[in-house]
Amino acid sequence: MPDQPETRKGVIRRFLDMSPDSAPKTVFVAVALCLVASMIVSATAVALRPLQEVNALKDKQVNILQVAGIYQPGEDVADAFAAFEAHVLDLDTGQFTDKFDPAEFDDRAAADDPQTSVELEDDPAGIGRQARYVTIYLLRNDSGGVDKVILPLHGYGLWSTLYGYIAVENDGNTIYGLQFYDHAETPGLGAEVDNPRWKALWSGKKLADENGDLQITVAKTPPPAGREYYVDALSGATLTSRGVDALVRFWLGERGYGPFLENLKAGDI
Ligand SMILES: Cc1cc2nc3c(=O)[nH]c(=O)nc-3n(C[C@H](O)[C@H](O)[C@H](O)COP(=O)(O)O)c2cc1C
Repeated sequence: MPDQPETRKGVIRRFLDMSPDSAPKTVFVAVALCLVASMIVSATAVALRPLQEVNALKDKQVNILQVAGIYQPGEDVADAFAAFEAHVLDLDTGQFTDKFDPAEFDDRAAADDPQTSVELEDDPAGIGRQARYVTIYLLRNDSGGVDKVILPLHGYGLWSTLYGYIAVENDGNTIYGLQFYDHAETPGLGAEVDNPRWKALWSGKKLADENGDLQITVAKTPPPAGREYYVDALSGATLTSRGVDALVRFWLGERGYGPFLENLKAGDI
């Protein structure tokens, strides 16, 4: 026992005396380096998480301001966002629910939770499951009535799920704007969904005809219903365009915001 420190010292000394090219020394240095590097990366990721969450929230708010047409670069985003009223919507009734607090409600988690979502057998938007509760945003006019509603939507394009918002005017039928904030379509092709000139095509388009039938269409040629329901498909990106067509028609239809838009038209919101 008394010679244990000697033995330990001997091991360290023997290790230090090894050639730098020796296999044990190389393996030891590589493992030590990996450990230190992974500890630094993990600590940085943990330290930055709150900042990432703040930035993600700010990005979401900027997108909602932009699609509603009230974003002013340079202004305080949180202040400007205070103009919106957030509500959790029950898609089945088309009415707001107080089962959930909109400040706490996590839409993506709700879409995964069997308690708050359904699996889609007929799934034109390619989303697998759909939450029956969704956070939406109201913008009111000066007299307190609804000016616009901002509705989240998502669906599969060619390579990725596109997440975005559609702004609909208070008539429940006229599109004010559409914008995606998260997708992985190809730059110059499918990612042209972000091109301001293409986004501008959505403004003023109608969702449904006078019979209440959903007519909005993204395609290469106008639908029989007419150009007021038509957004030209992106050239060179027919598949992403088809995805956008399918997801917009899904979310604005009966299984999406259809009941809510009927309530809005009837003045019940
Ligand atoms: C590398 C690569 C990336 C592509 N990315 C997209 C895309 O993001 N969205 C899309 O619709 N088509 C994309 N395409 C093209 C499709 O394969 C297809 O040719 C196109 O959607 C047809 O559109 P068009 O009928 O307007 O020519 C890509 C093709 C290649 C080779």
